[in-house]
Amino acid sequence: MKLNGNFQNLEQSYLFVTIAKKVNEYTAAHPENNLIRMGIGDVTLPLAPVVIQAMHKATDEMAKKETFRGYSPDSSGYPFLREAIAGYYQSLGVSVEPGEVFVGDGAKSDVGNIVDIFDNANTILVPDPVYPVYVDTNVMAGRKIAYADANMENGFLPMPEAGQSADIVYICSPNNPTGAVYNRDQLQAWVDYALEREAVILFDAAYESFVSPGLPRSIFEIPGAERCAIEFCSLSKTAGFTGMRCGYTVIKKELAFEGVSVAKLWERRQGSKFNGVNYVTQRAAEAVFSPEGIRQTQEAVAYYKGNAQVMVQAMRDMGLWFTGGENSPYVWFQCPEGKSGWEYFDYLLNEKEIVGTPGEGFGKNGGGCMRLSAFGDTEKTKEAMERIKRG
Ligand code: MLT
Repeated sequence: MKLNGNFQNLEQSYLFVTIAKKVNEYTAAHPENNLIRMGIGDVTLPLAPVVIQAMHKATDEMAKKETFRGYSPDSSGYPFLREAIAGYYQSLGVSVEPGEVFVGDGAKSDVGNIVDIFDNANTILVPDPVYPVYVDTNVMAGRKIAYADANMENGFLPMPEAGQSADIVYICSPNNPTGAVYNRDQLQAWVDYALEREAVILFDAAYESFVSPGLPRSIFEIPGAERCAIEFCSLSKTAGFTGMRCGYTVIKKELAFEGVSVAKLWERRQGSKFNGVNYVTQRAAEAVFSPEGIRQTQEAVAYYKGNAQVMVQAMRDMGLWFTGGENSPYVWFQCPEGKSGWEYFDYLLNEKEIVGTPGEGFGKNGGGCMRLSAFGDTEKTKEAMERIKRG
């Protein structure tokens, strides 16, 4: 018996696990602490009232023999939810059919599992810095990874380069960790690149609800994307579902390689390895896409965007280079005094009792940078910025 040796090539622990360990050590040593957590992008506001109502109703259904539900009829989601999500796309001006929507337990799982359907010999292109899941899942499978440099010069939005060959391209916009967002022309350049090379774009839209009008929320707003892209989205940040677990993947019927439908392969993969999201959560997710659900969840997004504005203003006051915060719950900035991200992380934790995420955790180009999350409480966000500004 041999273990998968590729696991030896992973970082020792997942970034947010490492950070949680450091924070636990600090709180154990300082039980009276006044810590402000701006590290992992975890939501703090409760679920919207319409979502809670839908869950109560669905739970009652599960309590009666006549309305009880066992296995979901389809691992890709109940028709009511697939229809609601397709309707949401229509509202963005994007044509998506319910059958092109695949409900899952969050973007992290789907974006990690999708690589099952692609050959291991493919070359992967990921931006650096990057959400660690894209790298880790490919390292686990022993795939060759190339990096697209994101840096201050390109505003942390790398563009395709002549001569750069890739079969699978990861794009996250608004970006995690940098908060930078691609405009329509930039995304069109990536779509053209993928079509020319017969590559596939894995587009992570988990933060789409933070995008202000005028910028694209979905890769499918870009002509040609239906033939080269898969979109992953999540209700984690849109509707506070980080603990509920529900997301969706959209694969258009036009997406095919070597005459094989990608959607069919994904459905086949999910049919073998996944039994669907639980019924109560799917009813909760359906409520998110109702007119009242959209209104209520956007209120929460507006609250977090308000926090991001507080952070953006603090960056301006301190004269620090930053990106994000406008169309994203993350602000990404250059650490003062040339500190590395980890040095600044330790400084913030020990001197200011603030938890951030060091840029190095997202790749070498994250060196010297720090990510702060706007998913906290507004008063605490203000307090954190005051603590940082005091120096
Ligand atoms: C993050 O902080 O980068 C995210 O919360 C992680 C995730 O969505 O899995």
